[in-house]
Amino acid sequence: MSVLTTIKKRFSPYSFDKTNVGFEDIESAFEAARWAPSGYNNQPWRFVYISRDHQNFEKMLSFPVEANSKWMKDCGGIAVVLAKTQSDFNGQLDPSAQYCCGLAVGQMLVEISALGLHSHQIGGFDRTKLSAFLELPEYIIPMAMMAVGRTSEEPQQNRKREPLEVLVLR
Ligand SMILES: Cc1cc2nc3c(=O)[nH]c(=O)nc-3n(C[C@H](O)[C@H](O)[C@H](O)COP(=O)(O)O)c2cc1C
Repeated sequence: MSVLTTIKKRFSPYSFDKTNVGFEDIESAFEAARWAPSGYNNQPWRFVYISRDHQNFEKMLSFPVEANSKWMKDCGGIAVVLAKTQSDFNGQLDPSAQYCCGLAVGQMLVEISALGLHSHQIGGFDRTKLSAFLELPEYIIPMAMMAVGRTSEEPQQNRKREPLEVLVLR
């Protein structure tokens, strides 16, 4: 059972149709993230989810840079992806926290695609202000904000991907 078709269906749209995406609508995507592997099974991913109909949705739009907030405003909800960099195992720095967080989000994206929803992550946002708003301790780092929603946009025909480069030892 290959999931490649679902993976290739994913793209990052710049327009959303303003329909609300409640947590219940997307809960299975967070469940997909939950099953990701992680060093020492530390599960260092953390998420905050704000649906469009929540009173703090507007506030969340104040953190992306303007070039991002101008299209994010129409999305159905925003997930904030956080990495907990302090290990639950020994209280020390978890050197693979960000890596494992990315693994979890990768799984999440596949499930969002399978649900017929779309996502667009951004790194262009004010991490200091967002951290202050969410009252994050210094060992929890915002990795990305993710707009989710519905769109009628089609993926660009000329989406660029580098050719696959794998050195296969035989
Ligand atoms: C960590 C991360 C940060 C990103 N930051 C931004 C951003 O600030 N603004 C934006 O428009 N897209 C952003 N993107 C989306 C990428 O530009 C997009 O995924 C890439 O061009 C590939 O296109 P595709 O997702 O449609 O396949 C980001 C994606 C990731 C994973």
